[in-house]
Amino acid sequence: MNGVVLISGGGSNLQSIIDNADDINLSLKCVISNKPSAYGLKRATDANIQSCVIDHQLFDSRQDFDLALMSLIDDHQPEIVILAGFMRILTDEFINKYQGKMLNIHPSLLPKYPGLNTHQKALDANDSVHGASVHFVTKTLDGGAVVAQKEVEINAGDTAQTLAEKVLKQEHVLFPKAIHWYTQGRLKLLNDTTATLDGQVI
Ligand code: GRF
Repeated sequence: MNGVVLISGGGSNLQSIIDNADDINLSLKCVISNKPSAYGLKRATDANIQSCVIDHQLFDSRQDFDLALMSLIDDHQPEIVILAGFMRILTDEFINKYQGKMLNIHPSLLPKYPGLNTHQKALDANDSVHGASVHFVTKTLDGGAVVAQKEVEINAGDTAQTLAEKVLKQEHVLFPKAIHWYTQGRLKLLNDTTATLDGQVI
């Protein structure tokens, strides 16, 4: 299945997708970053995958940025759009266009802690478990149907940094697994908050 990956930063999730691409039946057509300095761009180059930058700072509005992004994505006719650490809020127009074939990974056990600083939020709440979620992207920020989650224990002495490292390690396993379900045609978005795996509501 042809896919594009959107990134904004280090791209460690991108790397795990690249490393597993053959096993999960994914052909990566392009990696797109909204930040020219994103290290993930080098990961794409090293893997001989086309990469592009659309610098959001060069656009007057979110709409114009998203239009440029859609145009670039559509050049590659992807069947799946993967958000791997893509740190931009998307317009409704963008989401309408790709809803049902767009997956994101988020570093919390959704619906807990949408948005930023999730590790600190879990610590502040004295949670004993934290984790990562893969979800379909819908118009509600980090609010689309969750398709897979992985928990990590929070131990005494954990900081936002140590927790982020632990969660990230799990993300690298979780995201390729969920993408594989999608490329196998097993995963469908039923409505904004409900997805099915093999026809069963998750
Ligand atoms: C990950 O924690 C992901 O869940 C979040 O942003 C981070 C991206 O990390 N959306 P990386 O760029 O994949 O290393």
